[in-house]
Amino acid sequence: MSEPLRLRGISRLVTNVPGDGPLGIIEDAVVDLAHGEVAWVGEAAAAPRAAGEVLDVEGRAVMPGFVDPHTHLVFEGDRSEEFAMRMAGATYSSIQASGGGIMATVAATRQASTGALFEAALARVTAMFRAGTTTVEIKSGYGLTADSERRILEVAARIGEESPVEVVPTFLGAHAIPPGIDRAGFVRQVVEDLLPACAPLARFIDVFCDEGAFTLDETRVILEEGVAAGLRPRLHAEQLAFTGAAQLAAEFDAASADHLDHLTEEGAEAMAQHGVVAVLLPGAALSMRSGSPPYRLLKERGVTVALATDCNPGTSYWLSMQSMVTLAVGLFGMEVEDAIWSATRGGALALEDSRKGIVTPRATADLIVLDTDDPVDLAYRPDTNHVAMVIKDGVRAL
Ligand code: NIG
Ligand code: FE
Repeated sequence: MSEPLRLRGISRLVTNVPGDGPLGIIEDAVVDLAHGEVAWVGEAAAAPRAAGEVLDVEGRAVMPGFVDPHTHLVFEGDRSEEFAMRMAGATYSSIQASGGGIMATVAATRQASTGALFEAALARVTAMFRAGTTTVEIKSGYGLTADSERRILEVAARIGEESPVEVVPTFLGAHAIPPGIDRAGFVRQVVEDLLPACAPLARFIDVFCDEGAFTLDETRVILEEGVAAGLRPRLHAEQLAFTGAAQLAAEFDAASADHLDHLTEEGAEAMAQHGVVAVLLPGAALSMRSGSPPYRLLKERGVTVALATDCNPGTSYWLSMQSMVTLAVGLFGMEVEDAIWSATRGGALALEDSRKGIVTPRATADLIVLDTDDPVDLAYRPDTNHVAMVIKDGVRAL
């Protein structure tokens, strides 16, 4: 457990405790941390006597660490040729149909040694950490057999142990249907074979429910079994086409529905009613040139919105949540404060972790110190890493 640590000299502290705006900013603030938690927060003038070490951040802004609630970052191989083909007019589905896409990464990932898989994933997580991410969700899904899916989740767990970043594991055995197996046969394998092998290593279950991937009925069966195995559901929904996946996510009281390019009013309404968080992925939107999901509709209906990198080699080879803030503002029309909230508190809520992404007594002491006095610079002066220090569980880690 961490020694007491005080941060003082904070120009603006983003607390994410709703007040004047979504960010609950306190000017000239002090934060006391102890036992890995926030112990006291407020204006410097009202601060109690410091109990231990004092870190003067000299007029910089402080905010919660970024929470990235959707990544596929354990993979081997590269799909830059596909990217170039897509930018020249080829479609994601046509590339998939000709043997590329997810199955190309599955082949490379199965072939890689566990050591190589770990080193490559650790390098990505280290870059994320330097850019201020303190919690990351990692999905399996590039193995598609019991052993190879399990291996990916073991690598994810090791990343959590050996890096300062906290890892939240998700089982995504239903990511693609391998060629040579009939659909029904593979769905059976997912629930009878892959799920029992992987459930002990995962907190969530996800399905790529979309045109060219898993149908609504297949997804329902897989989620039912995943829930029975003790996992909380989340879904890839309405990315390539409208399928009704957002309503299905609501039916399951899922933690989140992600992508949502083709979300309808009914889908947004159902998500709002069932408290399903919308995870938006602006890196994928840019790298797929897919435009914007209906962000205004989500906001109007009061759906909680989170941002994530979707880090994967096919559709979104992005690492930095600072970039996601920039892109969400520029591409999706989000207000800067909303984008910062969605990249921190929104991500925590998408992972059902109420103690993260907020600076209030008892919250997890995950904070980043920026190189500027104004968090708006994350979007206003993009193209630079604004993270000067990172505190994870109350301990300075960068
Ligand atoms: O979130 N949509 C499905 N999964 C990934 C893409 C995976 C891939 O193409 O390798 C996504 O975009
Ligand atoms: Fe994804």
